Amino acid sequence: MSSHGAPIPMTSRACGALTGTAQVPGDKSISHRSLILGAMCVGETTITGLLEGQDVLDTARAMRAFGAEVTDHGGGRWSVHGVGVGGFAEPDQVIDCGNSGTGVRLIMGCMATSPISVTFTGDASLNGRPMARVTDPLALFGAQSVGRAGGRLPMTIVGAADPVPVRYVVPVPSAQVKSAVLLAGLNAPGKTVVIEAEATRDHTERMLASFGAEITTEVTDEGRVITLTGQPELKAQHIDVPRDPSSAAFPVCAALIVPGSDVLVPNIGLNPTRAGLFTTLREMGADLSYENERIEGGEPVADLRARFSPDLKGIEVPAERAASMIDEYPVLSVVAAFASGKTHMPGVKELRVKESDRIDAMKVGLEANGITVEDGPDWWTVTGLGHGNVPGGATCASHLDHRIAMSFLVLGMATEQPVSVDDGGPIATSFPIFEPLMGGLGAAITRSDV
Ligand code: S3P
Repeated sequence: MSSHGAPIPMTSRACGALTGTAQVPGDKSISHRSLILGAMCVGETTITGLLEGQDVLDTARAMRAFGAEVTDHGGGRWSVHGVGVGGFAEPDQVIDCGNSGTGVRLIMGCMATSPISVTFTGDASLNGRPMARVTDPLALFGAQSVGRAGGRLPMTIVGAADPVPVRYVVPVPSAQVKSAVLLAGLNAPGKTVVIEAEATRDHTERMLASFGAEITTEVTDEGRVITLTGQPELKAQHIDVPRDPSSAAFPVCAALIVPGSDVLVPNIGLNPTRAGLFTTLREMGADLSYENERIEGGEPVADLRARFSPDLKGIEVPAERAASMIDEYPVLSVVAAFASGKTHMPGVKELRVKESDRIDAMKVGLEANGITVEDGPDWWTVTGLGHGNVPGGATCASHLDHRIAMSFLVLGMATEQPVSVDDGGPIATSFPIFEPLMGGLGAAITRSDV
């Protein structure tokens, strides 16, 4: 069920130990980029392990509307016959990116330097999110945009017929913004330079290099200076998508808080721009090990092994780590509820403009379940109650946000009373197999409508 469908209330209750192996789906960030870069090549890009969540399926549909031939061969195997850099056709329909900020922002970037007009829309969550962070730099290339007040979707972008390359300092730590500028730079002649003060996930840079673009990253006093030479001929690739560390976070965190648990989560991408949660959990005293560490497709990969951790402590999470675990704060706040003492999470303003205001969504839901949360514009603190002491018993709003829904369902696995969410439907955007996978480990999640 997509996030456009009828709400799916779900309840999670305390269960026995979680045990076994959790094969989580492919990485969402890399899946979007595989389809988009595949569409910008000449020739056939083949993909294995693609995340078949609604967000990525919406990007696949968009790439078809731009003229690429995108084929689902089953079992996570896909192929894309691209149209080449600058080869996009003008879609004859509105592009609906559903719930996906990554999808819409990357696609806006990749079309902004082609002479086509495209109208974008999404669900209620996406239509409330800020787009000026992307349309401002795209205007420097010569693209125009008209949207709703506050730079919100629905929005039409008129791509630049005669794009110029840009030099852009990204004002917020956002891989989506950085990637939109780099994708726009692909069809601008000359060198496009993007500078980010804080390192954010670097999948776009890595993948552009492997598709044959000339791209360099230099670390300077200003931050990471990324230089891309425009109008390359991208070479079709085979991409084996690693499994998503942001999805791995859910079985890992559940295992840490459910007594007796021992869960293996194999083949997880541990790119340092993504792995901040696991470092944080270990600092809290989590029994979390990396097994079989290796390099695959240029990315560090390991099997994660998480065991019940009775002595978790609250910690100060360094602000400079925020970008590398930005999607994991909701589930971290759940683990923090079972730790002793306070977990303080500063430098996280970006959490307020995700699929929901994630600080607010978690604060309201955690408080309803008996946990104290304090917050400010860019920080929050959870006061842990220790194992066996978290009451639960409340129904939480998921606000069309998959990670909020999954976080509260993890909470309910170790609380005294069950925890419910008003709508688990959005989970399908990133982790469509969440319920059977967690159920297979021993979790007790039920739908109220069955
Ligand atoms: C993503 C970047 C992050 C992250 C999102 C995926 C990406 O967003 O929250 O889930 O694939 O580039 P921001 O760039 O807005 O931080």
